[in-house]
Formats: sequence, structure tokens, C-alpha cells
Amino acid sequence: MIYLDHAATSWPKPPAVGAAMTDFLERAGGNPGRSGHRLSIAAGRTVYDVRETLAEFFGITDPLRVAFTLNATHGLNTAIQGLLQPGQRVVTSGMEHNAVMRPLREMEKRGVKVDVVSADTHGTLSPAAFAAALEGGARLVVLNHASNVSGTIAPVKEIAVLAHAAGALLLLDAAQTAGVLPIDVTQMGIDLLAFTGHKGLQGPPGTGGLILADFFDSAQLDPLVHGGTGSRSEYEIQPDDLPDRYESGTPNGVGIAGLGAGLNWLQQRGLDALRAHELELSARLREGLGNIEGLRLYGPGDPGLSTAVISFTLAGRRVSEIGYRLDDEYGILCRVGLHCAPAAHRSLGTFPEGTVRLAPGPLTTLDEIDTVIRAVARIAAA
Ligand code: ALA
Repeated sequence: MIYLDHAATSWPKPPAVGAAMTDFLERAGGNPGRSGHRLSIAAGRTVYDVRETLAEFFGITDPLRVAFTLNATHGLNTAIQGLLQPGQRVVTSGMEHNAVMRPLREMEKRGVKVDVVSADTHGTLSPAAFAAALEGGARLVVLNHASNVSGTIAPVKEIAVLAHAAGALLLLDAAQTAGVLPIDVTQMGIDLLAFTGHKGLQGPPGTGGLILADFFDSAQLDPLVHGGTGSRSEYEIQPDDLPDRYESGTPNGVGIAGLGAGLNWLQQRGLDALRAHELELSARLREGLGNIEGLRLYGPGDPGLSTAVISFTLAGRRVSEIGYRLDDEYGILCRVGLHCAPAAHRSLGTFPEGTVRLAPGPLTTLDEIDTVIRAVARIAAA
């Protein structure tokens, strides 16, 4: 089997991830921050350690500004629904996932104005187009760091400067980039960053978070969910303390323990080394696929401008047929269709059929890439 669906979820996880989860259940199975006994304290310590590692990883100084969520979608909804009020304006891009577009369309029904800045057919966004869209001012800019369809990386720093000059906050969707590209929230001018744990960070599903920049005033952000936090139990109103304001209910301690192990694995390997590997894989894949007659590649031609997410179509073939044959005849696992990102496919010109998406990961080898190229070439020929 060749697993090329890392953009959906990374697999296999480093063995230390499962081990840390088992260890959490066996050694530290209490409810973190609730009871005062040793198991609760052990669980709280594990959760705090991972919070601290994440804060450092994403370039903020205060670990309490890491709010754990179920996934990136939950983090994005917390930010979008917690910030926007009727009558306000939000600017986003034509490369967003439905994790952004659906909450934004919901906010539109509640009186928020949503403006979408178009991308070109490679998924590239122009800062000048954002500057023009921001001329009228906005409350928020929501931006996908890298497309889950074409891998195209957005010019985050430039757009952050433009957003702030227009009085807007920047919310970055890092679902595809956390653990793949370096992200320094402070240096990049990101006010809020939503990430998932189960993709590049190598953690289990059910983990993720919302990072609040040190310079972001949390009084502006209402919580999405209210409830017990283990703190200030005498009050029936949600506490303002961080991260409790955004972390009601028992957290996924076992998942967070696994996420911590995923992060450690990543840091031992080194983000730079993993990125170099990814660049080598995507260059080879693009080159090999590019030689197949009738095959069209999407995204920027230069692998340095994208993550290792490669989408293609084959003239006269259904993407579902290609995906099925890759799995059934060659044991190659990928994702086909619209990838929950119809807006991005519209920008690329691949709506409504979608694309075949190949997304290698840290353990993918060049031999596997060559096997995949040969398999696609055979399917194209027959
Ligand atoms: N959003 C994930 C993907 O692109 C699940 O496959």
C-alpha cells in the first residue's frame, strides 16, 4: 500500500503517538484541572506541557493563549462566530475550504458582509487584490495558509500588513501547514491561528487548537461554547481567564498527549528536513506526471510555492475512476473530487468534477513516487 492522503490525515502516526495515548490512559487518566488528586494533576501536567510546546512552536510567549479545540474547523468557527457582528465586513480568498466558507456563509445570513478575493487558476493570491478589497475597511481577513487542493501557499505576511493597515484582524487557517511550514504567529502578524493536530503535526484526530497572538485582545472574542472549566466554579457565567474562556468541558487529554508525542517526533526530525524531503517528492511527482499525455497539473509549477499537495486531471477520464483504479489495482490511496473546497476548485477551473489529489508525507519514498507515476501512466494509457 502507498498512502498519499496526508492532506486528509497523516498516516501512519509515529509509534510514540499511540504509546503516549496509552500511557495517558494508564498513568494519568484523571480529569485535567478539575480534581486535586494525583491522576488529575498528572493529566493537567501533560496537557500543560503540550500547550507549552505548541506556544513555542507557533511563536507566542504565553502558553495560556493556546486554546485546545476538536479540530481546525472548531477553531475557525470559534474565531469567526466569536468575532463577527451583524453589519461588519469580512474579506477572504477564493481558495478557502468549507471549514471557512460555511461559517462565513452562515454569518452572512446573520448580516455580516462577506467579500471574496479571487485567486488565479494556479490558486495564487495577489496582495494587490487584497489591498483593493480592504480599501473599504473590514473587521476580519480569513486566509488559508496553503490550499488543500493545489497546495498553493498564500503570501501571509503581506496580507497581514494590509489587513492591519485596514483595521482588520487576520485569522489564518493552518490546517494544511501546521507541522509542514514554519509558522511564527508573532513575526507573521497573525492575530488568530486555527490548526489541526492530525495532519502535519502527526497527532491523532480530535485534536487541534486556536492560537491567540500575544498582541490579540481576547476581550474581542466571545466563546463559541460555554460550560464547566474547572475554574471559578462559583460563577454561572463563563470566566474570562485564558484558556478557560474557550475550553469548556473535559478536554481530549488522551488526544493531546498523542499530539505532544507527534510534535516531539516532528521536532526531532526537524521541520526544515521534512520540508526538504517534501520538496524533493513533489518535484519528482510533478515532473513525472507532467510527462503523461492528457494529464493536467494544477497549482504553481514551482514546488517551493506550494506544499506537497498535487492535484491533476486526465483528459476524458473521471477522477472517481482514477482514484478507484489507483486503490484497487495498485494499492495507492489518494483523495478525489472536491476535497470539501468547492471555492478552490472554482478558482482552479476544476468545479464540479474536482481533481485527483496526491499528498505524500514524511515517510513517503522516491521509489513510491516512481511507482505512482508508473501507475498513473498505465491508467492513462488503458
Ligand atoms: N480537509 C481535509 C482534506 O483536504 C479532510 O482532505
